[in-house]
Amino acid sequence: MLIAQLSDPHVRPHGALYQGVVDSNAMFAAAIGQVNGLDPKPDLVLLSGDLVDKGEGDEYAMLRRLLAALEVPCLVIPGNHDDRDAFRRAFADHAYLPASGPFNYVVTDRGAVRIVALDVTLPDLHHGAVDEAGARWLDAALAAEPERPTIVMMHQPPFESGVPYLDAYLCRDGSRLAEIVSRHRCVERIVCGHVHRFMQLRFGGTMLCTAPSTTTAIALRLRPDAKPASYVEPPAMLLHHWRPEVGLLTHFMPIGTFPGPYPFA
Ligand SMILES: [Fe+2]
Repeated sequence: MLIAQLSDPHVRPHGALYQGVVDSNAMFAAAIGQVNGLDPKPDLVLLSGDLVDKGEGDEYAMLRRLLAALEVPCLVIPGNHDDRDAFRRAFADHAYLPASGPFNYVVTDRGAVRIVALDVTLPDLHHGAVDEAGARWLDAALAAEPERPTIVMMHQPPFESGVPYLDAYLCRDGSRLAEIVSRHRCVERIVCGHVHRFMQLRFGGTMLCTAPSTTTAIALRLRPDAKPASYVEPPAMLLHHWRPEVGLLTHFMPIGTFPGPYPFA
């Protein structure tokens, strides 16, 4: 099973630039084009939040126009830049999404890997949290199929990155999440968005990685007094490849066209 992960496209209304700097819509279209061009084509695309920038209806309309070109089914979660109600309206045709409340769901019918989405966003706030209800839901969801290889998807990552302006808006109560995940060995990976960078670490006895954004990157600055900034680094995506004999292998893949192919010997 091959699963592409695109994150944080921050789609804007037609003609508007993201942060006044880049055409995030064109960048997301390029990401979609790259997914469509993969051979073999992925079975599934995960969109890990901040699908639009300001949660506005015309942004969601543009998002759906862009997603119409995607030739692979996708699963979506909101991020802190999404608006819960507008998001729900925009994806009313996505039957796996719950009709109310947080966007927690389990999808089991797309291949060998089960996708468990945990909505850690808090309306109108940029940080996230694993509350007790979410934790109980996750525990029960994971217990339903204890042997099933599983990806847990959430938006804000539950760890301190060392980048101060990111850590102000992380997912709080990470220890609550770690305790649950550590009891469910089926969790092959926790995947997040939000930080607009690739990071990986051990968490709750499993592996956790964050996806880069399809648009700008948040600056990698590790001094405690660092000032927030972003850069137009090469956008990228992740490709999670499940093979039973290997496990879940994650590729980091820049988005764009690059010189080559050249002979390799
Ligand atoms: Fe974002």
